[in-house]
Amino acid sequence: MPVTKIKQNTKERSFSKEMADKKSRILDPETVSKQAQIIKDIRIINEKRFSEDGTRKKAFIETYGCQQNVSDSEILMGMLEEMGYQKAISKEDADVIIFNTCAVRENAELKVFGNLGALKHRKAKNPDLIIGVCGCMMQQKANADEIKKKYKHIDMVFGTHSLYYFPSLFKEVLDDKRVIDVKETEGAIAEGYPVKRSEPPLAWVSVMYGCNNFCSYCIVPYVRGRERSRTKEAVIKEVQTLAKEGYKEITLLGQNVNSYGKDLYDDYSFADLLTDVCKTEGIERVRFMTSHPKDISDKLIETMAREEKICKQLHLPVQSGNSRVLESMNRKYTKEEYLEKIQKVKKAMPNITLTTDIIVGFPGETKEEFEDTLDVLRKVRYDTIFSFIYSKRPGTPASLWDDVLTDEEKKECFNRLLEVQDEISLEKNKALLGKTFKVLTEGESKTDSSVLTGRTEGGKIVNFKGDSSLKGSFVNVKITDVRTWSLIGEIEK
Ligand code: 5AD
Ligand code: SF4
Repeated sequence: MPVTKIKQNTKERSFSKEMADKKSRILDPETVSKQAQIIKDIRIINEKRFSEDGTRKKAFIETYGCQQNVSDSEILMGMLEEMGYQKAISKEDADVIIFNTCAVRENAELKVFGNLGALKHRKAKNPDLIIGVCGCMMQQKANADEIKKKYKHIDMVFGTHSLYYFPSLFKEVLDDKRVIDVKETEGAIAEGYPVKRSEPPLAWVSVMYGCNNFCSYCIVPYVRGRERSRTKEAVIKEVQTLAKEGYKEITLLGQNVNSYGKDLYDDYSFADLLTDVCKTEGIERVRFMTSHPKDISDKLIETMAREEKICKQLHLPVQSGNSRVLESMNRKYTKEEYLEKIQKVKKAMPNITLTTDIIVGFPGETKEEFEDTLDVLRKVRYDTIFSFIYSKRPGTPASLWDDVLTDEEKKECFNRLLEVQDEISLEKNKALLGKTFKVLTEGESKTDSSVLTGRTEGGKIVNFKGDSSLKGSFVNVKITDVRTWSLIGEIEK
C-alpha cells in the first residue's frame, strides 16, 4: 500500500505554492529576441540556397501523445517555417525530422525507440539529414542518456522545458554540434513565437502548462513541471487573432484547465476566461480539455450551461470507479463524489456529451474493485471512453507497488470494459437517429474524398456527402445511420 503517498503530496503542494510566488514565469524579452534573431539568421542562409539552386529544405515533425504535444509541434513547425524550411509530407521526404515524444505509457516510448533505430541507415547514407527528439520522453534523464549513448545518429535531444530555446539549439546542430539539452527546472512561458497550425476551422490554444496533481501513476508532473498559466490578455489576444484568420472553433488546452489562473489571479478563474473567450466575434464554438473532477466548480457548470458558444461536451477522467483505488491513485475524490458532480452537470445540461479516461489494472486493483468501474460506466452512460491498461512509469509512486491481477486478467477486464462501453455508445448514438444537428465541416473524410466529416456541438463525428467547398462552414445534417464511434447523415436542404 502507498505508505509514502500523503507525505509526498504535502511536500509537492508546498512546492507548488512556492513556485506560484515566483515572478520569473514569462520568458525574458532578451531571450525571446535572441531566438527571433537566430531564426532570421538561419532564414538568410536558406533563402540564399533557394535563390542559388531553387531548392528548399523540408522538415517533418512526428508527434506522439496528447493535444499539448500537437500544440508544441505547431510552435516547432512555426519556427522551422520562419527559418525557411518547407513542411514535408512524410519522414521519407524530409531533410529535418523531429520526433515530439510522449512518456505517459510505455508503448509510445517503445515506438519512438523503434523509429529512431530505423533511421540509422538513412543517416549513414545521408549525414546531412538532421534528426531531433524532444517532448516528455526526453525530459526524463534516463531516456535522454540512452539516446546520447546508444543512438549516436541522433543530432539533437531536448526536453519540454527547452522548446523556446529551439532556435539556438538548432543553430548549434547546423554548426555540426550534437546537442543534448534537458533543463531541470520548468520553462517560463513565452509569447509571440510563430505557430504553424492546421487550416481553419479548428484551433487549439494552450491556456496553461504543467500539472500539480501528482496522480500516483502519472509521469506528467515530472516531465511538464508545475502549473503555469498564460495571462488572460495573452489567451484572449490569441483567440481574437485566430478569429480574424477564419478559425471558428477553439479548444482551450491544459493538463488541468480548471486550475487556470490560480497561480496568477486572486479572483479570475477558468470560468471567467471561458466567458471572456466567448465574447470573441467570429468564434462560434469553444471547447476545453482536460478537467479534473475535484476542480469542476459550480461556477464552471453554470458558465457552461449559460454560454451558448461553449459546446455541451465534457471530458471528465474518472480513472477508476472504486473509492479505494481512487485514493491510491491520489485522485482526491470518491466514486460517490464523482457521480454527484456528473449529476450536477447532467441537471444543468441534460443533453451533454460525456467522455472519460479509465485505467485498468492499476497496482492493487482487484476484480471486485474493477466491477465498480463498470458500475460507473452504466450509471454515467458516457458517449465514449478512452481506456488504458496501467503502464508502469519509473519515478512515479505507483511503479513501486505490486499487482493483484495477472496480465491475462487485466486484459480480460479491459475487454469487458470495452464490451460494456461499446453497447452504451451504440445505444446513445441510436437515440440520435432522425435528429438534425448543426455540424462544423472539418474537411474530406480520410477514407473517401466524396464524404465530408465534421462534428456536432457534442463533439460527435458525423460523416455525410457534400462538396469539399463546405469545409469550414456549418451545415445542418440529419442522422440517417449510426456506428459505435460515429454518425452518418445527410445535409438538410
Ligand atoms: N498507465 C496507463 N494510463 C495512464 N494514463 C496516465 N498515466 C498512465 C499510466 N501510467 C492515462 C490516464 C490519463 C490519460 C491521459 O492517460 O487515464 O487521463
Ligand atoms: Fe497526470 Fe492528469 Fe493526474 Fe495531472 S491530473 S497527474 S496530468 S492524470
